[in-house]
Amino acid sequence: MKQQLLEKFAELFKTAEGAKVYFAPGRVNLIGEHTDYNGGHVFPCALTIGTYGVARKRADRELHMYSMNFEHLGIIDSSLDDLTPDKKADWTNYPKGVIWAFGQKGMEVPCGMDLMLYGNIPNGSGLSSSASVEVLTGSILRDLFGFAVSNQDLALIGQYAENRYNGVNCGIMDQFAVAMGRAEHAIFLDTATMEYEYAPIHLEGAKLVISCSNKKRGLGDSKYNERRSECETALAELQKAVDIRTLGDLDEAQFEQYKDAIKDETRVRRARHAVYENQRTVRAVAALKADDIGEFGRLMNASHVSLRDDYEVTGLELDTLVEAAWKIDGVIGSRMTGAGFGGCTVSIVKDEAIEAFKAQVGSVYRETVGYDADFYVVEIGDGPVIL
Ligand code: GLA
Repeated sequence: MKQQLLEKFAELFKTAEGAKVYFAPGRVNLIGEHTDYNGGHVFPCALTIGTYGVARKRADRELHMYSMNFEHLGIIDSSLDDLTPDKKADWTNYPKGVIWAFGQKGMEVPCGMDLMLYGNIPNGSGLSSSASVEVLTGSILRDLFGFAVSNQDLALIGQYAENRYNGVNCGIMDQFAVAMGRAEHAIFLDTATMEYEYAPIHLEGAKLVISCSNKKRGLGDSKYNERRSECETALAELQKAVDIRTLGDLDEAQFEQYKDAIKDETRVRRARHAVYENQRTVRAVAALKADDIGEFGRLMNASHVSLRDDYEVTGLELDTLVEAAWKIDGVIGSRMTGAGFGGCTVSIVKDEAIEAFKAQVGSVYRETVGYDADFYVVEIGDGPVIL
């Protein structure tokens, strides 16, 4: 892989002299959805698929960027002297946003670079191709220019770029999972305190299967920001009745006690999801530690129901994938993952049921939705590396 990437880089940029190869993973969230901007817990893991980058400093201030995933766009040129977001800059707004964010944090990038990317995460699948590019860019800048930043800093800078440069008000989960990933572990992160712990994922006789709906969406055009502001309004209403900082401060009983403070039925459901999903996540991790994978799976299923009925971020495609999965013997749990509105689902499937899973879920999906889903058996990998 490394050699092929360097050869392609040399083809594009004349030589590969001085170029280095980097990798940052994608992520999948096992449970704890739409909790990260509500002061709740999440439980994501990094994947062995992700984004490769080949980068080299330039003597001038120009930025020349090329993605093997968007070959038709060719090399997109810009400059360190014009780091404003620009629709025409297309995908390069992600690395440029990170370069901008480093500058905002007092780490001015001193010279331009040539950058080539190749991602093997399906784009727009909900496996965080954008967070992967952001953390990758951060780790490249750290290495090329010697900035003293930790992996956790890379996550925060990536989120800052996503929020302020690309206009998506996302939480910290994706960038954190990508930057802090550890093979064979998921990360139990409390987004209220940023305390985290690694939990081993040993699925005896089972695997993680991602079902990709192939319904494309970006968070920018989804209802992501709308959900976030519905939760903020619900929180402000609750704060008139009870002393809390975030929705994650409430347990189920407290929520039921105070929910009448929320003056709109839709907002009650949004907040209920945030509160119950947080509690489910804590319980799911406890179940996993107690080796009760069956309970973990049941909580995954309950998470999907809540995202479908209370949070309303699933839609026909994700519901079809999950509901077909639930019918198959050997499926321990299945739910949508990531922001929703398209993207993909994550399922824990016993080894002997994987072929039946792909065949049956695949055919129900085709009949119901009219086009194919894709299936990936994935492995949990590490955070960013230099190859
Ligand atoms: C997206 C966001 C995350 C998180 C999830 C939903 O992936 O980037 O911060 O909010 O949606 O859990």
